[in-house]
Amino acid sequence: MTEAATTLGPPSAPTPFAFSEASWTRIRKLLTRYPQQQAALLPVLWVAQEQVDADASRPRQLTADVIKAVADALGLAPAYVWGVATFYTMYFTQPVGKHLVEVCTSVACCLVGGEEIYQRLCQRVGIDPASGGTSADGRFTVRRAECLAACGYAPMLQLDNGAFHENLTEEKLDALIDSLREATA
Ligand code: FES
Repeated sequence: MTEAATTLGPPSAPTPFAFSEASWTRIRKLLTRYPQQQAALLPVLWVAQEQVDADASRPRQLTADVIKAVADALGLAPAYVWGVATFYTMYFTQPVGKHLVEVCTSVACCLVGGEEIYQRLCQRVGIDPASGGTSADGRFTVRRAECLAACGYAPMLQLDNGAFHENLTEEKLDALIDSLREATA
């Protein structure tokens, strides 16, 4: 690993990241869709994150070795890759627990209880609402989100970069937390 790579992002995992053959297959296919390799950076970062997510031995995070692998795959500088990854909230540049819960606290959601939903979620999973973060048991990472374009269904949250949970009430939120806890018990 180059010196530059070790200064970008969180420390590498004990076993340096390398793309699997399945990931390389996906990357090669992605590269056929873009005129320049650099243009495939976002989807290749996604491939890397999905491989990290599928490996229980690794932290759920784009560590420096992952950033380096992505940079090498596309012929880019690790600093460039890190700069792009940290711009987008869907990439795990900070440690993430088993479930990432992002509560919209922008205006439309806050007007109908979004802040209360965020506060209750933090209280239920034991996270300081002032900072957000990851619960002590590693099950939940909670953070505020800017408008997620579901204002008509406010208040809402996004779970694990995927499903929207909309028209939330405290009861719906409690049921969601309980189901997630049961699933990871
Ligand atoms: S303000 Fe919450 S989805 Fe738009």
